[in-house]
Formats: sequence, structure tokens, C-alpha cells
Amino acid sequence: MHRRLIVPSALTASLLLAIPASAADYAPGAPGVGDPYYPASGNGGYDVSHYDLRLKYQPETDLLEGTATIIATTTQNLSRFNLDLGLETSEVRVNGRKARFAATGDHELEITPATPLEKNRPVSVVVRYAGKPSELRIGGWTAWHRTPDGGVAAQEPDSAVWWFPSNDHPLDKATYDVSVSVPDGTQAISNGVLRSRSSRLGWTRFNWRSAKPQATYLATLAVGRFDIITDKTDKGLPVLNAYSEDLGDNAGAARASVERTAEVAEWLEEVFGPYPFDALGGYVPNVTSGYALETQTRPFYSPRQFANGANVSVVVHELAHQWYGDSVSVDGWKDIWVNEGFARYSQWLWSEKEGEGTAQELADYVYAQHPADDPFWTVRPGDPGPENQFHLAVYDRGALALQALRNEIGDEDFFAVLKGWPTEHAYGNARVADFVKYAERVSGKPLTGLFDTWLYQPSRPAAPAAAESRI
Ligand code: ARG
Ligand code: ZN
Repeated sequence: MHRRLIVPSALTASLLLAIPASAADYAPGAPGVGDPYYPASGNGGYDVSHYDLRLKYQPETDLLEGTATIIATTTQNLSRFNLDLGLETSEVRVNGRKARFAATGDHELEITPATPLEKNRPVSVVVRYAGKPSELRIGGWTAWHRTPDGGVAAQEPDSAVWWFPSNDHPLDKATYDVSVSVPDGTQAISNGVLRSRSSRLGWTRFNWRSAKPQATYLATLAVGRFDIITDKTDKGLPVLNAYSEDLGDNAGAARASVERTAEVAEWLEEVFGPYPFDALGGYVPNVTSGYALETQTRPFYSPRQFANGANVSVVVHELAHQWYGDSVSVDGWKDIWVNEGFARYSQWLWSEKEGEGTAQELADYVYAQHPADDPFWTVRPGDPGPENQFHLAVYDRGALALQALRNEIGDEDFFAVLKGWPTEHAYGNARVADFVKYAERVSGKPLTGLFDTWLYQPSRPAAPAAAESRI
């Protein structure tokens, strides 16, 4: 829907009172959503509801060609707006009409539509683009893992700019259709349900749908030669796991871990409530990096996670994120504890259930590992700063905070909080402060002191009730 922009004149001024927009009312959308950790992340002025990505990837040359169709709603009168993209754009259309565009550095794509966009209107944006993701480095690093037989996009807090244009911040979640064409014999993995796959003219197209709101950094693409294993859970949820054919010695251990996805998810449902998505799985590409990532419905695992044998704990961690991180997402990146503290604590709960040490015992062990002068204690998990966003303290001290909470409010309220929170904020965004308030509400106890001690002080807590009792 379009409305003509009416330029006011003295004669028509009285008639214009009812018309909201004069040229002066239209302004450019902000080039960032206002996250203090990452000022350029995301953009202002619109809200995306859906990404449709039609891609073609050539493993031999690393050439990715794409057409992205973005369905959004404007949230202000826009003279222009930005998308985040690191590849090269050849054409942009807004509501079907050719738009001017400029790559402004800092992986921003600045788009000026043929006519300004009025607030609260639906808008469609088509971006044609191409590039070699492996050639893109931002601040010296990359989210793109080139492999001998393909490539993978998986990284936090950013990976989208390596493969599609977006409003790249967890505040703007959307649904996805990702359609990827790759040479026959090669597979393309993404999030959600594999709706169909078909082959013609030497190319195989994989059509993926992720039907629940998904943050941009949780969207993933993996191309390579994969063994794909599919099944269904007792409740009929489709499970799809994918393993690179090239995992060497780690192949058995990788399967012995990731094939337990449905079992782990079933256990997590007892702790966190109903699984929030409509597909389950994991994938293990032949990357050389060492981390895993909770890409939505289908976590990314590095083969290195399985170098010492099966590692179900990492599967527990990434699946716990489906509730804590993916369904309930950070409001800003300073809130990373609402992801990592809980994913780590869920590993302690798994250990407790497996009889390999209770969460209390693990808390005592971790506490004792870090003497008071260990710089570990200078990191504040409640606001660690971008440089320490994935510091061990966010995970381990973050989980200690939860053990301290458990000891303060008792198991009954503690597990009610763990289960209630993902429902309270399902598919949304939340801050550390929201969690503190929620735990106070459920337990009826004041908790700001406890969380201040464990999440916000740059020193080893003086009275670690959780830890000291057992040391
Ligand atoms: N959320 C991920 C995990 O703990 C962390 C990924 C961090 N990335 C990194 N390069 N360290 O599962
Ligand atoms: Zn994590």
C-alpha cells in the first residue's frame, strides 16, 4: 500500500491538518537499534516479520548468490532505512519499486525508497546480492567457516551479515524460509523443518522453514557433504541431525552425542516446560573451530567437542539454550547471563541426574577453583562488557548465581522459576532485571542483594552460601 507524499503549500495548508505526513516528518531510520555493546547492530524504523532467502552456493569457489525478500512493518515515517549486510548488493526493490542503495561501510546497506514510507505500514524489500563470505572479515574475525566441501555460517553475536541482509539484532525476531541450491551430491542445512528437496540440472535445492520467531544470529546455513539422519519424537516432532562425511576419528563420538538430542530435550521439558519449537536436531560440520552454538532448533557442534568421546553435556547446553536464549532472548547483549548462566546450570542439573555430581558439588568445585585474586571474579556476569561477553565467568559464575538462588529460595520455588520463566517470556526478549523480579515474585523473597553479589560485584562474593557450606 502506498500513499502519495503531499507537499504542503499555503493554499492547501488548512486541508493538510488531517494528513499526517509532510516531507519534514520523514526521517532516516537509525543505523543501529541502540545496543551499547554493539552500536551498529540492527537498525531503527522498522520491524521484520519474515525473511525469505533464495540462495545458491558453489562450494568450489565459495560464491554465494542470493535474493532476500524481507517482510516488515515500518515503525516511523521513513525517508530511508538500513539493513546489515557484508556482501555486495546489485539491486534493491521496496514495495516492488527500484530503490537507491549505498553500502556505507561497517556492513550497513542504506536504502532510499522511491517514495518515503509512512509509519505502521507493511513493506517488502527485495535485495539481490552476492559475494564470497570467506573474504569478509569484520574487526579481524569471521562467522563464516570455509570447509573442504562447503561453508558454514554460525557465530555469536553476529553471523547474518556473512550471508543475508537483515535487521541484525535479537530484538527483531522473525520467521524464515531458507531455500538453498547446491551442486548435486552436496547438502544444505538450515533451521527448522526440511519442507522439501528436489534436484534438476545438476543442482539440488533444499527448502527449510523456521516457523517460530528467530533471532538473526540463530539463523544458520551449512553446505557440505552430510549424512542426514531423520526421525520423529514420541510426540511427533521431526528430528533431523546432520554429520559431515568428513569427521574422521570423531564421527562415532559425534553421533553418540547428538543422536541423544530427543532424549535430552525430553528431560529438559521436565525442567523448563514444553519445547518451544517445531523441529529438533543438531549438525556437525567439518570445521576447525572449537565452539558450539545454539542455532535455533538445530545447534551447531564442532567436531572438536567430541575429541575425547561422547559429550552429551554440550548437547544439554545447546538444547537448554532453545528455552534460555532462543525462545526467551536477550534484550541487549549485556543480558547474556540470561542465556549462558542457565545453559551452564542445566549441564550441572544433567550431571546431578546422571549421578556424576550434584549441582551443589559442582558449584563448590568451581568456586574453589578460583581463588579470591583470580581475575575471574572481576568479570560481572550481569553486565560483562562486550570484551567479556563469553568469558568463562559469565558461564560458571553465572551458574553459581543460580545455585545461590536455589539455596536461598529452596528447590520447590527454584524449579518453579526455571519452568515458569520460559513461558512468561516465550518468543520474546528479557533483561537480567526482569529475571530478578520474576524470581522475587515467585518466591516472595527480596533477591536484589543476592543477585547484586553474584552478578554485579567485581570481586569474589564474601559469603558464598552456596559454596562454603560444602568446602
Ligand atoms: N552461545 C555459545 C555457547 O556457549 C557461545 C558461542 C561463543 N562464540 C565464541 N566464538 N566463543 O554455546
Ligand atoms: Zn551457551
